[in-house]
Amino acid sequence: MADQIMLSLKVNGQSHSLQVHPFARLLDVLREDLRFTGTKEGCGEGECGVCSILLNGRLVNSCLVPAVQAQGGEIVTVEGLADGQRLSSLQDAFLTQNGAQCGFCTPGMLLAATDLLQRNPHPDEAAVREGLAGNLCRCTGYVKIVDAVQTAAREAR
Ligand code: FES
Ligand code: FES
Repeated sequence: MADQIMLSLKVNGQSHSLQVHPFARLLDVLREDLRFTGTKEGCGEGECGVCSILLNGRLVNSCLVPAVQAQGGEIVTVEGLADGQRLSSLQDAFLTQNGAQCGFCTPGMLLAATDLLQRNPHPDEAAVREGLAGNLCRCTGYVKIVDAVQTAAREAR
């Protein structure tokens, strides 16, 4: 279509090229076009963090990122955290520490925590809470999520 542009990006290690609307949001391209539906939409305004992904190694809210800004970029979504059927140690810790209840916030929490642990492999509780401050959870009260992140950090020692 004349009003579309060609977008090329790598998602979880796989290259994709597709036509998108010039004003498409990265969140919609990931969910609707490429079917990475683990990335959720909540507020659509950068407030809740459920749409968090890593773009070129940086944690971003994909609802706020124009897809064209990801041109040629490398993206990690929640689907890219596991190694095949094998969960990452962080995902495993969310399971064992009951870090997920309804699970809606969990993909964003996992990406934010992955970003945090890459920057600070042994965060104290305050650092975990600060690292996850952009991600809202309506169910857990955050305690078990913080426990899960610290468990994963301990087990990585
Ligand atoms: S949907 Fe992106 S921050 Fe809420
Ligand atoms: S587990 Fe339900 S919103 Fe966090």
